[in-house]
Amino acid sequence: MQRLRNLTRRQLLLLGAAAALGVAIGASALAGFVGVALAVVGVTLAGLAAGLLLALHRLAVLGREQRKALRDQRGVLEQTQRRLLGAVEQMLLTAGDRHRDLTELLATGQKTTALGTDRLLRAQTNEVEALLQLFGGFTPAAPMPPSGGFALNPTDLLDLLDLIRTRRPKLVLELGSGTSSVWIAYALEKTGGRLISLDHEPGYARKTRLALAAHGLTGVAEVRDAPLRPVVVDGRTFPWYDVEAVADLREVDLLLIDGPPEKTGKDARYPAMRVLEDRLADSATVVFDDAHRQDEAEALRKWVETIEGLTSEGEALGRHAVLSYRRIVRQMAPTNQ
Ligand SMILES: C[S@@+](CC[C@H](N)C(=O)[O-])C[C@H]1O[C@@H](n2cnc3c(N)ncnc32)[C@H](O)[C@@H]1O
Repeated sequence: MQRLRNLTRRQLLLLGAAAALGVAIGASALAGFVGVALAVVGVTLAGLAAGLLLALHRLAVLGREQRKALRDQRGVLEQTQRRLLGAVEQMLLTAGDRHRDLTELLATGQKTTALGTDRLLRAQTNEVEALLQLFGGFTPAAPMPPSGGFALNPTDLLDLLDLIRTRRPKLVLELGSGTSSVWIAYALEKTGGRLISLDHEPGYARKTRLALAAHGLTGVAEVRDAPLRPVVVDGRTFPWYDVEAVADLREVDLLLIDGPPEKTGKDARYPAMRVLEDRLADSATVVFDDAHRQDEAEALRKWVETIEGLTSEGEALGRHAVLSYRRIVRQMAPTNQ
């Protein structure tokens, strides 16, 4: 019964027709109408054969459709495979190129690092050698403040002290006090000169004064407070040392320009030669620290170009430049009376 309920309407109709035909055949045969029974059997067989043919035809159509769907699917699959393979090949090629690029980059990086380390090591060796020579020339009375960083490097100090030893300046003016002030004072103590050092920061000025006192050098060196004030040079206003701090100075034989620091403003040290040229002796030496920096290199170029008698002395050992200054005095043309 359950199975009968699951049959479709069409299947029930067919089943009903088959049952009716069976009953008709049976009834005709029982009633003696053998001809009628045979005719009904014939019709039934013909119907079955027609149904079979129809089913076979449907199966054939279905088979064709399935084969076509399969062909289509295979086509799509092959196309997808081809695309996938192309993408993988492309990826492998790119990965190969990238690997080569990376290897080259790594090799260049290694070379640069090796070169940088080599340069650093050589520079470090130079500084150690300079330091040994500095301490070989003097016996400090107290621990020396550190060199390098904000202070001059040992190579710069060695050059500077050699200039003092050979040129024997009577008056040294330093812009920016610190460790260098102590070393310069030691050198001047030997040669018989004196040092005036300016500092715009009262805290650093005090620190240098304390260091000079600890080394017993206050008789040789003096640190002056010189706060930054606006100064007009070549039509531009710069924050620069208060000129009052140098008002009494004449005949400066050696000028060390190591301040103000670059953070105080663009071209922070440019006013130095413009303001102090008049304070220099007729023949003087100018040491300009950090001359490799852009602002300082530009200032140096402009000074040499525009200040008569100022010439660069060439390569220095450290990061400073040495300039010599000779005052050019123009003779007044005699007037015809
Ligand atoms: C380049 S430093 C002068 C250094 C000095 N000539 C020497 O060689 O020791 C210029 C100015 O920077 C300031 N200064 C010194 N040491 C500093 C530090 N450690 N940090 C920041 N500023 C410093 C001081 O005011 C100094 O006048």
